[in-house]
Amino acid sequence: APKGPVLGIETSCDETAAAVVGRTASGAPVILSSVVLSQTEEHAAFGGVVPEIAARAHVEAVDGIVKAALTEAGTGLEGLAGIAATVGPGLVGGLIVGAMTGKALAAARKLPFFAINHLEGHALTPRLTDAVAYPYLVLLVSGGHTQILLVRGLGRYERWGTTIDDALGEAFDKTAKMLGLGHPGGPLVERAAASGDAGRFHLPRPMRGEKRLDFSFSGLKTAVRQAANAAAPLSDQDVADLCAGFQAAAADSVRDRIGRALERYRAELSDLADPVLAVAGGVAANGAIRAALNAACQGHGVRLVAPPLSLCGDNGAMIAHAGLERLEAGLFDGFEAPVRPRWPL
Ligand code: KG4
Ligand code: ZN
Repeated sequence: APKGPVLGIETSCDETAAAVVGRTASGAPVILSSVVLSQTEEHAAFGGVVPEIAARAHVEAVDGIVKAALTEAGTGLEGLAGIAATVGPGLVGGLIVGAMTGKALAAARKLPFFAINHLEGHALTPRLTDAVAYPYLVLLVSGGHTQILLVRGLGRYERWGTTIDDALGEAFDKTAKMLGLGHPGGPLVERAAASGDAGRFHLPRPMRGEKRLDFSFSGLKTAVRQAANAAAPLSDQDVADLCAGFQAAAADSVRDRIGRALERYRAELSDLADPVLAVAGGVAANGAIRAALNAACQGHGVRLVAPPLSLCGDNGAMIAHAGLERLEAGLFDGFEAPVRPRWPL
């Protein structure tokens, strides 16, 4: 019989989230509830996430968010088979809040506890949304991470590439900040870019043609700053053109890097019936990045799996789902499992 359901708690950055994920009788994962409270407004005035504010907001919100997820799922605590919480990587204050909440509930109900790596949550999301079979390739692009991962199985991740400086989401956020657009910057840059001319400013395509599968975005960010300084004072049209130029350059870079990764993927795992590249992380919401990935996938006979936007950004369902897979594999964690602010996958 299918196991679960599992409660997942996510508090590693600026979203307080909880969700319950189980399986249907046929074994397909099912999201019974998913509640996400974003702290965007608490941090807006500061132009970024303030760790102390985030931790306090998690403390205030987490009980209500967990209760809401349990009520919406209709399981209550009684109906759960386990509890999962993100214990890293992320901001230590928030991690402690989520981990302590999960451990306390698990101890009170004598349920197994799962100490989840946030990146594993993102990496397994294509199995939650699209039942993708192992192995598959993942591009994780968020505010803190830019990685190409070969997911061979649960807990078996091979990192093929990463950023040597800024994460892609971070580059979007810094570009937005320097152009006076606010935080988080990704959606604001994308919106401004829609009315911009990507060809007006000549910006670099970082790492293009490099053999290794890494990314770099800080040079592009610097080029945007220099172009912005040269064009100052900036009109709305200038800002739109800079955003469009930045986004096009970032998308070109991603297309080149992913094209090379897909070449290796097709060569090394040549017998896959259904080769898949899945995208995860908040930047997956970006239309230009998605188009670049689509183009790269078409060129290599690979299927692109792009989860719904609500499951690309941080959420509790991906943590509950990672816990469910761990429950089924018998990979339990003790209550002594520490929070790990730095925890590579
Ligand atoms: O995965 P996520 O919700 O949180 C973590 O960083 O773990 O990703 C947030 C990042 C932010 O940098 C945000 O600016 C970026 O995703 N983002 C976008 C878009 N929506 C969110 N970047 C580009 N275009 C978007 N539409
Ligand atoms: Zn994330």
